[in-house]
Amino acid sequence: MDGVRERTGLRKVESRASITEADDLDLSRLLERPRLKLERKRSFDERSLSDHAAAGSLRPVDSYESVLSLGAMRSVLDTPTSSAHNSFEPHPMVAEAWDALRRSIVLFRGHPVGTIAAYDHASEEVLNYDQVFVRDFVPSALAFLMNGEPDIVKNFLLKTLQLQGWEKKIDRFKLGEGVMPASFKVSHDPIRKTDNLTADFGESAIGRVAPVDSGFWWIILLRAYTKSTGDSALAESPECQRGMRLILALCLSEGFDTFPTLLCADGCSMIDRRMGIYGYPIEIQALFFMALRCALSMLKQDAEGKEFIARIVKRLHALSYHIRSYFWIDFQQLNDIYRYKTEEYSHTAVNKFNVIPDSIPDWIFDFMPARGGYFIGNVSPARMDFRWFALGNCVAILSSLATPEQSAAIMDLLEERWDQLLGEMPLKIAYPALESHEWQIVTGCDPKNTRWSYHNGGTWPVLLWLFTAACIKTGRPQIARRAIDLAENRLSKDGWPEYYDGKLGRYIGKQARKFQTWSIAGYLVAKMMLEDPSHLGMISLEEDKAMKPPIKRSASWTI
Ligand code: GLC
Repeated sequence: MDGVRERTGLRKVESRASITEADDLDLSRLLERPRLKLERKRSFDERSLSDHAAAGSLRPVDSYESVLSLGAMRSVLDTPTSSAHNSFEPHPMVAEAWDALRRSIVLFRGHPVGTIAAYDHASEEVLNYDQVFVRDFVPSALAFLMNGEPDIVKNFLLKTLQLQGWEKKIDRFKLGEGVMPASFKVSHDPIRKTDNLTADFGESAIGRVAPVDSGFWWIILLRAYTKSTGDSALAESPECQRGMRLILALCLSEGFDTFPTLLCADGCSMIDRRMGIYGYPIEIQALFFMALRCALSMLKQDAEGKEFIARIVKRLHALSYHIRSYFWIDFQQLNDIYRYKTEEYSHTAVNKFNVIPDSIPDWIFDFMPARGGYFIGNVSPARMDFRWFALGNCVAILSSLATPEQSAAIMDLLEERWDQLLGEMPLKIAYPALESHEWQIVTGCDPKNTRWSYHNGGTWPVLLWLFTAACIKTGRPQIARRAIDLAENRLSKDGWPEYYDGKLGRYIGKQARKFQTWSIAGYLVAKMMLEDPSHLGMISLEEDKAMKPPIKRSASWTI
């Protein structure tokens, strides 16, 4: 038992940020959870997963099932809790990753409430990497849930819900009630022996942008928690119901919009600096769609809930139609846009947003394979941002915003363009990089976002979990295996960097933190899902057939 613990790192929990001895005790109790819980959770997941299979949302079903049975057989052999029962030897990186993940746990008044963004001792500047970021905590939360440790996730959900209730002001302007923080920080006062909490809703962030993604991730995580534990009491509590409604009220409000997509400022999500993703970025649209679907499954049918449910249903129909039709690009669609007429002034217009074909960038003509397609970065009047963004496309697959055909085409693209999109380290956040004059204009000469670095074509290991989930959902686990193998070559040796640079992702990022928590947690989640694909049910939604738009089948979809 002790040997296993040593290997898997269950014990090494002493050295974390701002914790007292009493806190340690509390944490070790958390780690000593009875295994029974995990078993109960397993059967819950499996049930939900077979629902998926029955609904036909997992393609191709036969290869998926073989993965499932393999996974079910191996169960969570790779995770610390279960390796105590088995002789299966996990990859040495798994134990190291668990150690590092546990070191990043942040306690508030004795209770674990999240994980800090990075635990990089070597770096002189802490900046804001000592905070708990909502988006960064998602893979940590999934790792804990998959390992049968839901308490930290529950605490996090409740703590951030409390923060949502704070009055939020930037200068003299009051933010919407529903806004969730980008991050929060726990500081320990050694004299008074108390913990204090401060939150950032965008007032400290670079560019002063509120995080639109935080609220969506919060809802998605609430569903993951509910799915994983079977405990629906939390989601059904008046506080959580209200929290959800406040988030929804922000993004479902009526305005001047003519599109169902959500209008955003640059830098309001994972890419939190100026990168030309203002308007209707795919990352936010996919998260918006997923959060709406998750909320739909959790909102109560009471008077207030009912009203939101009706609004969500309408919005989902419009949103899926819009994105599936206008954001989608493949060889056929590109050729159509290339031949677009402009200045069409009527209801029958084909070129609805008056996109000028000359604005299509040169790179995409070579990049577009005969088989495959993806959702482009942005669509607005006369502007199509043709760049590929990994997060938005993976979330589109997981939420079933992408039809099964589109999901398969996205995976085809990833396979066909492996060098560009995955290279030597998974996964490029965006492709291609902005260079020279375009970089100057679009990023405002950002020295952190130079070509093939950071958000500008850099490689982010955290994306591995989303990619793996998308691979499993589309019945292609072998591709995820290939990506994980690549990560295992270097990730630990390089000290779990935040990001890599270069066209192939070969160089540790110029200003990358080491021991970046979501790089660590992302790896663990990817490993656990591959070992046991039934975990997928936590972060995947089956296709809703009612949402099918009348789009033409394109050549790239015929398999
Ligand atoms: C950077 C990233 C952001 C992340 C934060 C903490 O600001 O751009 O996505 O949440 O670091 O890791």
